[in-house]
Amino acid sequence: MASEKPENIITVGHDRFGFDSRVEMDTLRSLYLSPSFVKDGDATKNISGAPPKDYGAQSTYDKSSNSIQFTTVAKFPPVKLLPNAERKRILVTGGAGFVGSHLVDRLMLLGHEVTVLDNFFTGSRTTVSHWVGHPNFEMVRHDVVNPFLIEVDQIYHLACPASPPHYQYNAVKTLKTSFLGTMNMLGLAKRTKARFLITSTSEVYGDPEEHPQREDYWGHVNCIGPRACYDEGKRVAETLTYGYMRQDGVDVRVARIFNTFGPRMNPYDGRVVSNFIIQALKGEDMTVYGDGNQTRSFQYVHDLVDGLILLMNGDETRPVNIGNQHEFTIIEFAEAVRDIVEKVQKEQGNPLAKRVNIIHKEMPTDDPQRRRPDTTRAKETLGWQPQFNVRQGVEDRFFSFLVYDPC
Ligand SMILES: NC(=O)c1ccc[n+]([C@@H]2O[C@H](COP(=O)([O-])OP(=O)(O)OC[C@H]3O[C@@H](n4cnc5c(N)ncnc54)[C@H](O)[C@@H]3O)[C@@H](O)[C@H]2O)c1
Repeated sequence: MASEKPENIITVGHDRFGFDSRVEMDTLRSLYLSPSFVKDGDATKNISGAPPKDYGAQSTYDKSSNSIQFTTVAKFPPVKLLPNAERKRILVTGGAGFVGSHLVDRLMLLGHEVTVLDNFFTGSRTTVSHWVGHPNFEMVRHDVVNPFLIEVDQIYHLACPASPPHYQYNAVKTLKTSFLGTMNMLGLAKRTKARFLITSTSEVYGDPEEHPQREDYWGHVNCIGPRACYDEGKRVAETLTYGYMRQDGVDVRVARIFNTFGPRMNPYDGRVVSNFIIQALKGEDMTVYGDGNQTRSFQYVHDLVDGLILLMNGDETRPVNIGNQHEFTIIEFAEAVRDIVEKVQKEQGNPLAKRVNIIHKEMPTDDPQRRRPDTTRAKETLGWQPQFNVRQGVEDRFFSFLVYDPC
């Protein structure tokens, strides 16, 4: 893996399709790299490495009482001042989740009016608390399974639990969210003539027989397995989306997202990146399922947000894969995370007494063997390709305070 420093990436976003979505990485970092303090007796240490700042939220974890104190300051980062004709009213369902919160940051900084709709099943208010009170921002607790009425120009429909333990927790609810939730948001798009983008997934390809996966591959999904509520839910959500497009002329966009990681991931969501980072930070054995030769590709969340904004504002209505093409075996990935976490811990003066071990456990049912996107369509139609490799993403150090901070 190349190891160019993530600091060398100065901006994310593009000026394309009449929509300038460029934002400085330092501004984004100032939103998620909030100072996080740990109070241990009389000593208070800033464990995030992020400098104090005059806006946004910060937290202090008190070891003795096992409590966490949040401080929010009613001063916001500067956002673009857009003329009325350019300022869009944008609805983000699932905007309090991992991906949604980064999309919200970007859209807010770009000067739009953003409404977040979320039932907080897997998302948390803390992910977007730094915008609460801003005149361009609104947050509504609502379950997309029920209809919702609002006047908007664009809908990014993300609401759906995305990690296996979360979507399997209540399989019927996951299916309702995928079908009824998508139907309600498409109905809203039809009424308001808003452009509608759904975040579908590489899981629509199931355990693929073709490699890498192109958008015209129909997939290989077990419709009665434990993952089916999510995989088939997303498949039918795509079917609905194109049904509304053909029958009712709704202006749709479909993003098929591959594994993504980054700040504000739920550290205990059971996904492989979170598992590895948490285990390595705590000095526990890192668990690899099977022999570890199954492959995955991981993209950093800023690349995904770039892709979603480009897709929303471009003309491509067919499904578009958004993911990093670089393929790793899981064992290689575990070793890379272990190296980077060790390096960061050493630099912070908390080296672990001994190296963590990598152990193997039995492979879960229907876990795909290989997964890698063919992103030719994204490159050709959106001019999109990822800027960050995995090492740069992990080196962004977003995880350094994960053990304490729920956001
Ligand atoms: N993160 C990835 O690697 C990945 C990969 C493929 C697809 N996706 C898709 O991207 C979207 C966001 O994923 P994420 O990783 O941010 O997951 P997440 O679980 O962090 O976020 C999902 C958000 O949706 C909300 N939500 C769930 N059900 C809801 C309901 N019925 N009504 C209202 N809100 C509801 C949750 O509270 C949460 O805030 C999902 O649609 C997911 O399927 C993500």
